[in-house]
Amino acid sequence: MTVTPIETVAATDTILETRGLTKDFGGLRATNDVSFTLARGAKEAIIGPNGAGKSTFFALVSGRHRPDAGSVTFDGQDVTGLPPHEIARRGMSRAFQVSSIFNRLTVLENVRSAVQVRRGRAFDFFSDARRVALDRTEEILALCRLADRRHVPAGELSQGDKKKLELALALAGEPRLLLLDEPTAGMSLEETRETMALVDDLNESHGLTILFTEHDMSVVFNHARRITLLHRGRMILSGSPAEVRANDEVQSIYLGGQA
Ligand SMILES: Nc1ncnc2c1ncn2[C@@H]1O[C@H](COP(=O)(O)OP(=O)(O)O)[C@@H](O)[C@H]1O
Ligand SMILES: [Mg+2]
Repeated sequence: MTVTPIETVAATDTILETRGLTKDFGGLRATNDVSFTLARGAKEAIIGPNGAGKSTFFALVSGRHRPDAGSVTFDGQDVTGLPPHEIARRGMSRAFQVSSIFNRLTVLENVRSAVQVRRGRAFDFFSDARRVALDRTEEILALCRLADRRHVPAGELSQGDKKKLELALALAGEPRLLLLDEPTAGMSLEETRETMALVDDLNESHGLTILFTEHDMSVVFNHARRITLLHRGRMILSGSPAEVRANDEVQSIYLGGQA
């Protein structure tokens, strides 16, 4: 496995940039000429009504879909058309709406195997690698408030704890950019509060850049420092929570539903 040393990656203030990103599904243009820039260290939201193209945008950025036109630059490197595992290896993780949980393994076993995959498949039991992987696993479990569930089979977790585990698996990939697609979907108020506190912590204390989609506007306005609105695949506007809240177009798109 070749790993690009951090020092050789161009240090710019922009971690993610798309130019003219476009994706068609048959006759439907799900992503339409989206040029978007995300600063390193940001915590931002992509919003838009159902079907606006939020998940498709994430799929294009993370390599799950290939764009029909346009480019994706991650950390100064063109990653357009690269497969998802290659983009993940470079430091972009996408959590939620993708489930890579093994139900019969415990929480600890799930996270540990993800850490081991990240640290290299040729696992050497005679080196410190095993200890380091276990330490990293425990660190992630503590961070995600899963330490007391470590021996529970993943299939027996509550919905909220399952989401925490998905986040833990994303963190095992040691990302610099974390994409969260509707992190609080299906959660109770208490679980939502806890999950978003964790997202804030990852951004503020661990320097992780975070881009998330969310349909709950109170979550968006309380946690995103900048918000971008997509509508029918197009980027309509980008601004601070106050700017977006005051914008007439936002009001009419949301009040008018899909219209
Ligand atoms: N794999 C796919 N095949 C065909 N159409 C798709 C596919 N994925 C998404 N779409 C369509 O693209 C549009 C955008 O979907 P999506 O990105 O999931 O929106 P959002 O996440 O904002 O709700 C929708 O009209 C959806 O039906
Ligand atoms: Mg979606």
